Amino acid sequence: MQTVQAHTANKKKLTARDKSMKLFKHSLLAVVVILSFGSTSCDRGGQVAEEAEAKAAKMVARMTLDEKIGQMSQLFDGYFSDPEQFRQAIRDGRFGSLLNFYGTDKVNEAQRIAVEESRLGIPLLIGRDVIHGYRTIFPIPLGMAASWNPDAVKEAFRISAVEASSQGIKWAFAPMIDITWDPRWGRIAEGCGEDPYLASTLAYAMVQGLQGDSLTDPTSLAACAKHYAGYGFAEAGRDYATTYISEPVLRNVVLKPFRAAKDAGALTFMAGFTDLNGVPTSANEFTLKQILRDEWGFRGFVISDWASVPQLVDQGYAYDERDAAAKGIKAGVDMEMATTTYFENIKALLDEKKITMEQVDNAVRNILTVKYKLGLFDNPYVDPDGVKKILDPSFLEHARKVARQSTVMLKNENSTLPLSADKIKSLVVIGPLADAPRDQMGTWCFDGLPENSVTPLKAIRDLLGEKKVEYVPGLKYSRDKNKDQFSDALAAAGRSDAILLFIGEEWILSGEGQSRGRIDLPGAQSELLTVLAATGKPLVVIVMAGRPLSIGDELNESDALLYAWHGGTMAGPALADLIFGKESPSGKLPVTFVKGEGQIPFYYYMTKTGRPATEGTWIPMDKIPVENPQSSLGYESYHLDYGYTPLLPFGYGLSYTTFTYSDLSLSDNSMSITGSVTVKARVTNSGSRDADEIVQLYIRDRVGSIIRPKKELKGYKRLNIKKGETAEVEFILTAADLAFFNGRETLTEPGEFDVWVGPNSDEGLHAEFIVKKN
Ligand code: BGC
Repeated sequence: MQTVQAHTANKKKLTARDKSMKLFKHSLLAVVVILSFGSTSCDRGGQVAEEAEAKAAKMVARMTLDEKIGQMSQLFDGYFSDPEQFRQAIRDGRFGSLLNFYGTDKVNEAQRIAVEESRLGIPLLIGRDVIHGYRTIFPIPLGMAASWNPDAVKEAFRISAVEASSQGIKWAFAPMIDITWDPRWGRIAEGCGEDPYLASTLAYAMVQGLQGDSLTDPTSLAACAKHYAGYGFAEAGRDYATTYISEPVLRNVVLKPFRAAKDAGALTFMAGFTDLNGVPTSANEFTLKQILRDEWGFRGFVISDWASVPQLVDQGYAYDERDAAAKGIKAGVDMEMATTTYFENIKALLDEKKITMEQVDNAVRNILTVKYKLGLFDNPYVDPDGVKKILDPSFLEHARKVARQSTVMLKNENSTLPLSADKIKSLVVIGPLADAPRDQMGTWCFDGLPENSVTPLKAIRDLLGEKKVEYVPGLKYSRDKNKDQFSDALAAAGRSDAILLFIGEEWILSGEGQSRGRIDLPGAQSELLTVLAATGKPLVVIVMAGRPLSIGDELNESDALLYAWHGGTMAGPALADLIFGKESPSGKLPVTFVKGEGQIPFYYYMTKTGRPATEGTWIPMDKIPVENPQSSLGYESYHLDYGYTPLLPFGYGLSYTTFTYSDLSLSDNSMSITGSVTVKARVTNSGSRDADEIVQLYIRDRVGSIIRPKKELKGYKRLNIKKGETAEVEFILTAADLAFFNGRETLTEPGEFDVWVGPNSDEGLHAEFIVKKN
């Protein structure tokens, strides 16, 4: 038996918790597993920070106003068409940061000019969107979230940093940690899904991975927690649209991962495009000053999003660009990305006394502090002869592992999967995503190269041999409606032992600006699936998409379904590993899957309603008698057509083995308001093969000063359990883990609580406990 202690965590504990957990196996051999959420902060706090701040303050005192304004401006590569103008601008200290500028020679030359030829020798900070890999592309972040594996995610971000830093990049605009409840929003692909706890653990890991063990290490990048805050709540999932978020939802949900990123030592934050309850997040004193600086004590710097300062004018929050610059600076946006409203207006704003020199100095000090912390003043250069570890085999192997662990099996009727590579005589691979090297990399991927992608078709052919694998795309791309190839696909299906159908979304259908009103499978893909299902051949469907699609019909019609997101460079081999049983699927959904757009938003931690629907009370539309009289009885919270449950719950995912949960126990059935309770359960691998299970702990606060969610994830652990073995999982739930913001204050309230330990947000063993007043 294994004993695993998994810690739940909360915002206050992140930095403090450098705890380890012990894992005992039969022989009492102890293996220490360090939890990635809550271990040491990359920003060693204290001394280093203070030294860097002191140096920055000294530098600020020596700077001219022009030099200060330069530090507050970030330009993009290509802003100056004339190379000499560009060099002169660096000499003049015209900007402090560049984005989308990389390559060792280019960076070293620009840094040389900055350091040797500018008056004060201030190095540049080179930033880029390194969102889910640099050249080795990992699954989209939503996919990585489905792995529920912070250690593996941290390693993925470490690898991204190693690759990107070798090209002169020192700052990644990542992690993107916007919680969303809306799969229509294209940027759902870039974040960690719907849950604040899961997203917080991953945000913490991502920052740690990017920033490494020491900020001055040449492979460390500054992280940038974005988009602060609330961008994921854009109305109707329409990108850039307004957001309305109550303060409890803001603090209990949206801000949680940002707090975790801050606690992990994230050096920078990025403001957003949207407004939050009427005040743009790029000019929002409440979030940027009160919360980030005053309450959380953030000491790094804040950058705007691309052109989000001048956009304050378009939003109707500033009269003109000068006004916009003033509002950005006053709110605490230290650096402007891509546009020049700061550059053009700061002097006039100072003359007009609309901003103060102190505000400018603070911004510049924040920026320089980060440059000092990164060691840029000591060494701004990239080693041109250094080992450029791009696409190192170990990186590709890790990408394959993460892609495997990110894949969620949603159905496996009659144990259709895994297929046996030995027994299969002929297989047909069909679908527009089977051999789409660019699409499998997903959105936000500037530096990944399609030629490095190993597609599922290639991986399957490598495994089974060319002869056994017939390939008919069926459709050329996901939106294709031309059914001319259907007959070929059917004929090939008729000749094969099983069908592997790869469908989903092209990469361009998710990501920034790529919101969809309908979230079904585009083009004629569903029809293709239906005709193939009618053949009666085992039909294995693999969905590769940037969002949770509404795939109810497809789920019904298929024999097995793997949800693989956009899995990155190694998506093909990872899927082959799962399809042919080298490893069992183990991912779990980081978002609720809805039946259709009309159910949005649907997230598992909704607050309770006074009229919950149940199996017995839902009256489906077609069962209502014609001319039924109006009645005031039996009205409950559901849709006449969809019912009251989603297609699939948060946390859901199947395995090739079975896990049985038993023996849920609590150390006590009550705890004090400052105490803790230990929750234990046993998980037995009752199937026939070794596999990972993600054990999840949920709670419910039955009565609160504001209504509490139906359930809340408070802990999880990915465990490898050998067949026939039992693991004992132990979670320590502290009173602080139960705290929430009630509109006035953050507190733990005494009262009755439910607790579940189980395989997803819908199932699990149940117990209860009481939190007592001290
Ligand atoms: C996005 C940011 C990104 C920036 C720089 C913006 O459009 O919203 O997430 O970091 O561009 O590429």
